[in-house]
Amino acid sequence: MPREIITIQAGQCGNAIGSRFWQQLCQEHGISRDGNLEDFASEGGVGDRKDVFFYQSDDTRYIPRAILIDLEPRVINSIQSGPYKNIYNPENFFIGEHGMGAGNNWAAGYAAGERVQEEIFDMIDREADGSDSLEGFMLLHSIAGGTGSGLGSYLLERMNDRFPKKIIQTYSVFPDTATGDVVVNPYNSLLTMRRLTQNADCVVVLDNGALSSIASERLHVQEPSFQQTNQLVSTVMSASTTTLRYPGYMHNDLVGIIASLIPTPRCHFLMTAYTPFTGDNVDQAKTVRKTTVLDVMRRLLQPKNRMVSITPSKSSCYISILNIIQGEADPTDVHKSLLRIRERRMANFIPWGPASIQVALTKKSPYLPNTHRVSGLMLANHTSVATLFRRIVVQYEKMRKRNAYLEQYKKEAPFAEGLSEFDEAKEVVMGLIGEYEAAEKDDYLDPEAGEKKADGA
Ligand code: GTP
Repeated sequence: MPREIITIQAGQCGNAIGSRFWQQLCQEHGISRDGNLEDFASEGGVGDRKDVFFYQSDDTRYIPRAILIDLEPRVINSIQSGPYKNIYNPENFFIGEHGMGAGNNWAAGYAAGERVQEEIFDMIDREADGSDSLEGFMLLHSIAGGTGSGLGSYLLERMNDRFPKKIIQTYSVFPDTATGDVVVNPYNSLLTMRRLTQNADCVVVLDNGALSSIASERLHVQEPSFQQTNQLVSTVMSASTTTLRYPGYMHNDLVGIIASLIPTPRCHFLMTAYTPFTGDNVDQAKTVRKTTVLDVMRRLLQPKNRMVSITPSKSSCYISILNIIQGEADPTDVHKSLLRIRERRMANFIPWGPASIQVALTKKSPYLPNTHRVSGLMLANHTSVATLFRRIVVQYEKMRKRNAYLEQYKKEAPFAEGLSEFDEAKEVVMGLIGEYEAAEKDDYLDPEAGEKKADGA
């Protein structure tokens, strides 16, 4: 029985990365732009599971289990007039009535979420009722603007109440702090981080700063466009879902992936690395390398391939790693590579858990050109992700000290009673940073250690 996943894409960024993701899934599963199975894919026999992300309409077309939400029409309109316009269920588009967007204001997005929730939950409930064995939801959004962050936050809270037993995973795009294209991004990011901490089971952190430098290095362009960085994002998203779509013995549902990566519920923010980004993934980068399992596994551990800009310290370490390896990979090669990585101490692990890299070997789509023997995605839970959160808090404090841009927040309902939303969000994020720091110590799982600290001992 499929374990279906419903994707909710919110705001400009969420919809842009979502539309690339669906394009990629269609190509991998041999689904045409109209949702029909291509002739070359109708024989079957490749062992894929399309029904996790798609359902079939009465006329047997494949339709994404996707809900597309935005408060301004531009991106959704471009999807509705683009090459894949016919694959989506036309009832699953939601565009804000006034078409004004949330003006990069988390509070405006959150308040709009409250106003339009009935219409959106009608769509979500309809999709949920249409699944046989719904496993959970994937929210795609950016945390820096107004709609994906604010409306996304509102949805995360309500979905937690409404579907307490379903998994909520997010692919959250963090802003590039160097460009600061949204001036108030520290406010919006901090407020969203609270919901990602409290209301999501698993957050895949994608950081525009790191994505841009990876894209510019590989594509040899100074300022990569969103179109180019989104190609990286969709590659990561499709690779991280391959074990669900081409199931093997393990990691073939979300719960299995989360159980192996997230041993304690609060530390649920994952970073990614992918290699090689060449040929079929990114058109402009044609360098073909020799790829072996060891090369791929070694490169996945290199900081330059990480899609998050973090500053690891001496004490920071991996809580867990899952490498999803696609292509011609032999279990013996995997075993040898793991030994080599351990001998050379290429990865530091937490002192309180198994210090091992988990590996899932999966199939590659037979319908896409195959330029590499092996490619790999690393999903990693690493304590240094907290340095990204600390950067958000520091930037927030600088801005808040100057009382900058607060008026526009005070106008919106979540701040009608004062600015305590900010203080509460900061407390939650500081608590999360503390949790990651505690996870670096060997007494992390010792309940008495927490009590001693509380007593000041
Ligand atoms: P409003 O515009 O306020 O209604 O909210 P929104 O959620 O639509 O905003 P948006 O998604 O544009 O969020 C702004 C942040 O997302 C900025 O940090 C942008 O750099 C980033 N962003 C916007 N579009 C994309 C995209 O297509 N790809 C990537 N990687 N980042 C994007």
